[in-house]
Amino acid sequence: MVKKNKSSKQLSIVIVGHVDHGKSTLIGRLLYDTDSLPDGKYEELKEICKRRSTDAIEWSFVLDSFQAERDQAITIDTTQIWFSTQARNYVIIDAPGHREFIKNMVSGASQADAAILVVDATEGVREQTRRHAYLLSLLGIQQIGVVINKMDMVNHDPKVFKKVSKEVTEYLKSINLTPSHILPISARNGDMISSRGKNMDWYKRKSLIEVFDSFKNSNAPTSLPLRFPVQDVYRFEEKRIIVGRIETGTLRVGDKLLFSPLSEEAIVTSIENWPKNPDKTKARAGESVAITLDERIFVERGHIASHEENPPILSNVFRSNIFWLSHKPLRVGNSYKIRYGTNESIVTVQSIDRVIDTDNLAQKENAKEIIRNSVAEITLRARNLLPLDPYTDNMRMGRLVIYDGYDIVGGGSINMHGYSNQRKKTPKAENISKVKHLLTDIARAERHGHDGGVFWFTGLSGSGKSTLAMAVEKALFEKGYYTYVLDGDNIRHGLNTDLGFSPDDRTENIRRVGEVAALMADAGMIVITAFISPYRSDRERARKACPLKFHEIQLHADLATCETRDPKGLYKKARAGEIPDFTGIDSPYEIANNPEMIIDTKNNDIGTCVKQVLNYIEQQVVLKNKSVNKIYKKEKSIAY
Ligand code: ADX
Repeated sequence: MVKKNKSSKQLSIVIVGHVDHGKSTLIGRLLYDTDSLPDGKYEELKEICKRRSTDAIEWSFVLDSFQAERDQAITIDTTQIWFSTQARNYVIIDAPGHREFIKNMVSGASQADAAILVVDATEGVREQTRRHAYLLSLLGIQQIGVVINKMDMVNHDPKVFKKVSKEVTEYLKSINLTPSHILPISARNGDMISSRGKNMDWYKRKSLIEVFDSFKNSNAPTSLPLRFPVQDVYRFEEKRIIVGRIETGTLRVGDKLLFSPLSEEAIVTSIENWPKNPDKTKARAGESVAITLDERIFVERGHIASHEENPPILSNVFRSNIFWLSHKPLRVGNSYKIRYGTNESIVTVQSIDRVIDTDNLAQKENAKEIIRNSVAEITLRARNLLPLDPYTDNMRMGRLVIYDGYDIVGGGSINMHGYSNQRKKTPKAENISKVKHLLTDIARAERHGHDGGVFWFTGLSGSGKSTLAMAVEKALFEKGYYTYVLDGDNIRHGLNTDLGFSPDDRTENIRRVGEVAALMADAGMIVITAFISPYRSDRERARKACPLKFHEIQLHADLATCETRDPKGLYKKARAGEIPDFTGIDSPYEIANNPEMIIDTKNNDIGTCVKQVLNYIEQQVVLKNKSVNKIYKKEKSIAY
């Protein structure tokens, strides 16, 4: 038996595996072997087994009896089971068999440092083995030990161990998991758990307890950038105190904090704690603190404080790899509440990008819904900008839980694949002010005989943007209009030659073009832009640059049509993996929400489309004579 240690070190472990593969037996045995059973529990077990006339102790009864006590509301918390080795203390999160098991794992209430996957030597990999392993990969648990259990039932045969090990390792490899250890055990008899036993001398590596002791405590999140989600703001006498738990990083008195999403800034004047300790000038990840600031900025629950130089991403759209738990399927267009840190927001499912069958890892695209116990990648959209940390950058902040009403219906990780940071660039130049033109819009319009405007074509590559834009430009020109096309491929040869197709580069591409188009429209020109411009947020920003004269025109032709046209042969290359981040293939395209005009280029010939656009543009730029002239006269007197 292992003696209890006094170390304060603790490692949390989750034990997963297919039903009846021996999770409960293993836990019961572990508690017994490490002398961690509550007083009298062993005697109680012996008694139960005697009554049932079996000699062998049924270790899984330990958990059953914990569960029974819990059901009777006697205060024993079976969601956390403790045991110790000589090296340190362990907490097993969540009891197997507990019906909330997966829910608890997904909800992140349990943040395990390591996992043990139990596989029955007689059965090998089964459905829940795969599903639970997938969940481990989804939750990013990287230290994984695999135990091939029930070796006593296969005569402790090393060949069986080898065969099942191979099967498990192959599945884990396919989902990018590498077990740190894989070992044969008999939970029932206690072989290779705490003691090595006599039956498997052929196995020379670590016993389970040694495996546990070799696991490392997860990296202390102090080394990550500061994330301090605001839990509450209290008013206390004259002070306003901001309370929360530091999830990652370190916070010091004197630090300048940036609160997202509003980007308000203030300096930490004190870390208040109880009992009062004026010397406390620093707090680190894991600590709950109350701080005061030097300025009265607007801060509320859900905001996230960071340092200025390393803030979370701001975006109203992001992707999530989720595990779906509800009987009600998740569908595109449905709205849910998500929670991460202290932030709670309503999001709408913009798309289901793929559904993954954990059994054979087949990926299904264009799925209409996600059913219970499925894993999927989805795109979520919020009304406002959310402060987000991709899961790969920050495991604490990058996990979310999905609610339908008060029920947890899913959970997963946040990623930004295909999407860019919408945090505004802080202006580089200072001491600048706007200079006024001496000419008015109307003066310019009268000179040209028509108003200016931005006619923003958006659509997939191959939807006909350039063709239509050039034809409309020619038609307008021939009718005497002052017009010019800004085209993606052309602009990328000059002004935007430094930009590629990453989400950030596309955003910058559209930002620049939006500004240029606005200037040209201000100069009185009819500007037609032909850019994929895949992100709604970028198009909205282009609109803001020219709010009164901006017209979004969605060119509609579905992906299959554009792919068949493939005028530049790019889809073919993209499908062959030769062009990364290709829109529609492995980079998103967000259809316009409320465009001024939709042109169906799939079902109409070019002549018809040109006519439709031409008509629309002419209506928009026509000088509304009477009123214009009136204003013009008035403004003219100011202008000249
Ligand atoms: S945008 O996404 O930033 O708006 P833009 O309209 O400027 O794109 O450029 C799109 C054109 O670049 C396409 O018509 C195509 O010819 C070419 N192109 C090259 N690589 C890509 C890619 N990865 N995705 C989309 N278009 C690409």
